[in-house]
Amino acid sequence: MLLLTGATGLVGSTLLRHLLTEGRPVRCLVRDPRRLGAQRVRVQIALGDLTGPPSFRNALRGVQTVVHLAASIRDQPQVSIEELNGIATWRMVEAAERQGVERFLFFSALGASTHHRTRCLRAKALAEQAVRDASLSSTVFAPSIVYAPGDPWLTLLERLALLPLMPVSGRGRALYQPIWAEDVADCIVASLRAPAAESHTRYELAGPETLSHNDIVRTVLRSLGRTRPLLHVPTPLVSRGLRLLETAMGRRAPATWDEAELMEVSMTSARGAADADSGARRSAHGCASSSCAASASSPPSPAGRPTSCTPSGKPSSPW
Ligand SMILES: NC(=O)c1ccc[n+]([C@@H]2O[C@H](COP(=O)([O-])OP(=O)(O)OC[C@H]3O[C@@H](n4cnc5c(N)ncnc54)[C@H](OP(=O)(O)O)[C@@H]3O)[C@@H](O)[C@H]2O)c1
Repeated sequence: MLLLTGATGLVGSTLLRHLLTEGRPVRCLVRDPRRLGAQRVRVQIALGDLTGPPSFRNALRGVQTVVHLAASIRDQPQVSIEELNGIATWRMVEAAERQGVERFLFFSALGASTHHRTRCLRAKALAEQAVRDASLSSTVFAPSIVYAPGDPWLTLLERLALLPLMPVSGRGRALYQPIWAEDVADCIVASLRAPAAESHTRYELAGPETLSHNDIVRTVLRSLGRTRPLLHVPTPLVSRGLRLLETAMGRRAPATWDEAELMEVSMTSARGAADADSGARRSAHGCASSSCAASASSPPSPAGRPTSCTPSGKPSSPW
């Protein structure tokens, strides 16, 4: 049995589809099973919350492998980013050790460090440390920005593109290597198919192109067929404005400063797309392997649309 947390999120929902296609028995730790959509009848459900460690014990019963994706880039009512991303991971991996879990796969982020400027990436660094120190086989994936059609961030950019000027927090110079959620899921599946590592493995998941925040915004505008001048809003103004918005709207705020700040820090890998490419290659057994591996790492088309392989090996466009 495999326990998946974060199955209702961007990466988790994509991964769940891949796992179920493979016929793997999956249990999902979720706050609200309705958010699993049609997949909820194809999995075991464990009701739980990152803030409730007792729910981990039930969820982990009879589990050999954990894929821990659940996380949050904004505070939740009564719970901080640090608890959701750092302490909860430490508690989850501890519970997994106690229950005799064999493998633990965890999602951190590129650039995470205990001295990082953002709260989220400081918490991720501590979580990585807890996973690395655990006495079970562990794999950490550190992705750059992950995207998929209609994801919350692209949707926000599409909405902002309706304005006469396209606002960008700060100078927009932070660099990213965006990677498609389907390619990320392929890498996880490839890792699960391989025999468990003796101790600890770490993969950096980056796409083939390095783009600044400005480049990404321009790519989205181009794909929407809109021309808008970028309006660079000074960081202190964004920070103050979003903090005020959060105070006024609480959890309904469309964006928070902690989220916006993540678009002011680079998330790149010196290894480029190498780790993601080899993961996609290994998982692409259903495709003619060379063509599929190549497409997993090919740069976006002029319209900013990456191509990838369907299980039948036919190229498809996610946008
Ligand atoms: N997306 C990226 O660009 C990116 C970049 C670097 C690293 N990562 C990491 O990759 C992993 C997957 O990211 P993602 O983009 O798929 O995240 P996501 O779309 O934001 O999904 C987050 C998931 O965590 C669950 N969750 C949040 N708070 C919870 C709580 N208190 N208790 C239980 N579950 C909770 C959510 O469930 P609900 O449906 O109940 O809210 C959702 O399933 C995360 O660890 C993330 O930090 C992502």
